[in-house]
Amino acid sequence: MGESLRTPPLQWHDARIARRDRISRGMTVWITGLSGAGKSTLACELERALIEAGQPAYRLDGDNMRHGLNSDLGFTMADRSENVRRLAEVARLLADSGLVAIVAAISPLRADRSLARATHEQDGLPFWEIYMDTALSVCEQRDPKGLYRRARAGSIPNFTGIDHAYEPPLDAEATFTNDEREPASIAAQLCPTLLAQVAALR
Ligand code: ADX
Repeated sequence: MGESLRTPPLQWHDARIARRDRISRGMTVWITGLSGAGKSTLACELERALIEAGQPAYRLDGDNMRHGLNSDLGFTMADRSENVRRLAEVARLLADSGLVAIVAAISPLRADRSLARATHEQDGLPFWEIYMDTALSVCEQRDPKGLYRRARAGSIPNFTGIDHAYEPPLDAEATFTNDEREPASIAAQLCPTLLAQVAALR
């Protein structure tokens, strides 16, 4: 194979406007935690709270994204890493376009979440990691989709928290532990801080 085929001749093409000249500014909020921890519910409330405050926002839910862009991926660690990489890349594009991208995905590995953070920080985009620290026993009791029951019965292999790893964040910007509060109240608490992050962008 010739050199030119192994090293594709690609160049980055810059926009003709600066970030501050876009209609709005964006960032990424990355919500991690076990299945049933409350990630998707918080993401929905946050999306609504931000939009009601006049800030464009859009959710990237792990389950939903697996219906489309990530429908070719399963639940091996390699596939989960690729899932997280794609979510991070899409979130970065949305954040760059001026939206608050709200990712809700188990994203079990610290290294993968660090890469997602680095992808944003290299681009000057704020990245907020939120850990839904809901105990496995609570998630399993909730079991909204009946998946823990099936995993315990052995019909879903590699289920996070049962027979597949979850590495909790060490440096999350916010952590909510077994939170009994309404998700809307958590969203209302987070909203002003996120708006301030975005307002500080140049
Ligand atoms: S991640 O690990 O790759 O980040 P993601 O958030 O996209 O996962 O998808 C998790 C969702 O897939 C869960 O909420 C659950 O509904 C479903 N699911 C199906 N199989 C598994 C599994 N083996 N482990 C965890 N979640 C699973």
